[in-house]
Amino acid sequence: MMDRDQFREALLGVMEKKEHWASALFADGTVPRHLLPIHLEQEYATYVRDFPVLVARAYVACPLAVVRRELIANVYEEETGGLAAGRPHPELFLEIPRGLGLDVAHYEQIELLPGARAYRGYLDEATLERGWEVAAAVTVLFLEGTRYERGELDPRAEKRPVPPLEEHPLVRHYGLPVESLALTKAHRKVEGEHRAAAWRTLLEGIGSERREAVVDALKGALAHWLAYRDGVAEACGLVRRAA
Ligand SMILES: [Fe+2]
Repeated sequence: MMDRDQFREALLGVMEKKEHWASALFADGTVPRHLLPIHLEQEYATYVRDFPVLVARAYVACPLAVVRRELIANVYEEETGGLAAGRPHPELFLEIPRGLGLDVAHYEQIELLPGARAYRGYLDEATLERGWEVAAAVTVLFLEGTRYERGELDPRAEKRPVPPLEEHPLVRHYGLPVESLALTKAHRKVEGEHRAAAWRTLLEGIGSERREAVVDALKGALAHWLAYRDGVAEACGLVRRAA
């Protein structure tokens, strides 16, 4: 069985692989403008719209009051923006397509690409059928976290970059008004606290007998996410360059 340090290291090891080859091509403007909506639509429909519900599934299943309080604070902020953002986070996300001049009327009926459907299926199973520990890890750590998680815990580790919003790829390459990055702004306000809460929840709340299952679930989330992002990259006209 894993002790707490081994558990933390195993979780960090998975998160450090949360990096997709196409992200650099989304960031440097390579994706043609007319294909960019595919990326936004698939992100919204796979997890952005339902993120509060996914976290709430962990909340409902969790027997530990101290953990539930952390989870429900996250749900409340995501669902309402009542603590920081002022508006529901899924709604704030839609300011991005709106700011690009896109119609968002069809965003509630997005058809998922095959990899996106598999990823969403995995997220549903992980949040509904495998206990609160897996549900919490897959949502507050995997979905909400980045490959810079170590920097949230260790002052000497590389930090999550926070470039000025004016340098955001959507602003630089696609003419998105900076005001449309309301969600990014809101996340920056609550992110530090959410990351700290996520790690408290996982490291202090999950017993040694469940740690291996949680690490396995996180690896599964990573594999499904990578395949999902492959599909989106392909649909956005990107081709993987030889290493
Ligand atoms: Fe959020």
